[in-house]
Amino acid sequence: MERRPDLVLVNVRVPGGRKADIAVRDGRVIHTGAVTSGNQIIDCSGLFVLPAAVDVHVHMRGGKQSAKEDWKTGSASALAGGVTVVVDQPNTVPPLTNPGAFLSRVHEAKEHSLCSYAINSGVTPNTPIEEMWAQGATAFGEIFYAPSSYSDALDIGDLPRALRRIRALGGLATIHAEGIIPGKDTGLAAHDSLRSARNESEAVIAVQEGNTDSCRLHFCHMSTAEAIEAAQGTVEVTPHHLFLSREKTRDENARFKVNPPVRSEKEREKLWTLWDRIDIIASDHAPHTKAEKALPFPDAPSGVPGVETMVPLLMAAVLDRKIMLPDLIQKTATAPAALLGIPPSGFSPGDRADFALYPDAAVTIEPEMLHSRCGWTPFEGFRAVFPPTVILGGTVVYKDGDFFPSDPTWFTGKGYVPPL
Ligand code: NCD
Ligand code: ZN
Repeated sequence: MERRPDLVLVNVRVPGGRKADIAVRDGRVIHTGAVTSGNQIIDCSGLFVLPAAVDVHVHMRGGKQSAKEDWKTGSASALAGGVTVVVDQPNTVPPLTNPGAFLSRVHEAKEHSLCSYAINSGVTPNTPIEEMWAQGATAFGEIFYAPSSYSDALDIGDLPRALRRIRALGGLATIHAEGIIPGKDTGLAAHDSLRSARNESEAVIAVQEGNTDSCRLHFCHMSTAEAIEAAQGTVEVTPHHLFLSREKTRDENARFKVNPPVRSEKEREKLWTLWDRIDIIASDHAPHTKAEKALPFPDAPSGVPGVETMVPLLMAAVLDRKIMLPDLIQKTATAPAALLGIPPSGFSPGDRADFALYPDAAVTIEPEMLHSRCGWTPFEGFRAVFPPTVILGGTVVYKDGDFFPSDPTWFTGKGYVPPL
């Protein structure tokens, strides 16, 4: 006899508006329709059931940077925000630019992460790109085209060769496209003009010109309409560029300091006009400590936390009818999974059974609600809808503030060669 489902979500409003029950076994959806029995039943009446998000751009820190964040707190923050898969960026200390560093990063995640994860390889002229691919790197980069926190920029002269090698593997190059002009970085307006919209779009164009072998490109955290219009690869945008502008705070507030910069209100509005061109929303979760962010503006590091508030802010925009729920699901779950080549979360048989359940009421974000070790958020006071229940591989991993053990997956890249 067939085993009973491990979990059944009943009264789920699936896309198209119909109500159905979703049966899950061994981490996958096995049936959508009317289901009569299961080992665990969750009634989803009155809730939005969303395929859980894949955040393709997070910096989970750890090691020497554990005062900012580590895998445990970062992944807890992800789950509590309805994100069950994160893609960790390689600008760790030390950076993931050799197989040994990559392997120990995988071990660190395996040991401590509460959510599923993928890990990217760094790219320097000396990185053995083919070996990193065989070790399981999901994608390459973010490749810094301008310096940011804890990274060296790849010189334009070295870029075509690196892209050619990634292309030969069938890999994906993810690009932090920015340009910087010299000047005093004294506040948010200065930061914005030293790393301007024009500099960003020129960086996009330069990278594309250097991509002579047509390597697949993904542009990370794009902050301006001008740069997005220039981009010929997939486009990722963050909640901080969609919801924050420098007019919303004091010019010297380094908590809003991030690369690319938080722009003017006018730029932010222009960004929204390209909503349909945005392929993916990712958080660029880049926590720094309160003390670091309290340094004088020029000395404070760039980066803001955001993995936990990404979907909740977007859900509030759904309630306000600013965006449509299917777009939210497409840009936070479906498209990121497709970009990485991992199974999508969703409602069809075979889909990854990762879900987050949301009420239809927003709350005001307070830093105390959140789980990142950094203990602050640039979205304090914003309205957001947080999920009381989050499911990973058919197991409830988060409920009303409590976390439960599960079996996170390491999603390797296509080139992974398992050790003998
Ligand atoms: C990131 C960080 O702190 O690691 N900072 C940032 O301002 N975005 C690095 C990055 O993604 O550029
Ligand atoms: Zn970046």
